[in-house]
Amino acid sequence: MRLLSDLFQNNREWARGMEQRSPGFFAKLAEQQTPEYFWIGCADSRVPANEIVGLMPGEVFVHRNVGNVVNPLDPNCMSCLQYAVEVLQVKHVMVVGHYGCGGIRAVLEGQYRGRVGEWLAPVRAIYQKYAASLDGDPQQQWKALCDLNVVEQAAAVWQSSVVRDAWAAGRQVAVHGWIYSVSDGLLRDLNVTVASSTDAEEIRRKAIDEILGARSR
Ligand code: CO
Repeated sequence: MRLLSDLFQNNREWARGMEQRSPGFFAKLAEQQTPEYFWIGCADSRVPANEIVGLMPGEVFVHRNVGNVVNPLDPNCMSCLQYAVEVLQVKHVMVVGHYGCGGIRAVLEGQYRGRVGEWLAPVRAIYQKYAASLDGDPQQQWKALCDLNVVEQAAAVWQSSVVRDAWAAGRQVAVHGWIYSVSDGLLRDLNVTVASSTDAEEIRRKAIDEILGARSR
């Protein structure tokens, strides 16, 4: 096991390396952040936002929680969303789920005690909504619920007053739904990008049909 002192040593080496590659990097970063992206992902240690998409500090604003849940009642996620859209004026919000998600599996297996159980209530609701269409083997169910969860959490983003208000004000904000595979390191676009309220529902419905249809192919 690494000692905590090792982490500080790593940090000093990292900061030195960054400065060497790009002199003045931190001084410039300290002045302002102007990220174009807001990443809402799972807290899973295997899904580090910046690394996966090759972005530097300052380039992506990040919120992570168990199961990449976007709950309108969650002050943490919603204040991050508001800050990202209104203050940082990001152009893209991506909800990024991942296969092999323990939070999703807990919902499928009915293991949701304590605070995590309460937290996952919106995912449980999604599962219950589509359970009848999700028969099949447990691995496929797990995969499908990971996908469905991304689509529905992305919908929660574009249904939010923050995004609706931004659109009404003529601002360009696109909401995306991606899924990451921890087994090959690759991101997949679930094709639920929504940039206006006009076709949002249709895009969502198509994506869900595709996910539910995929199980029988
Ligand atoms: Co997860």
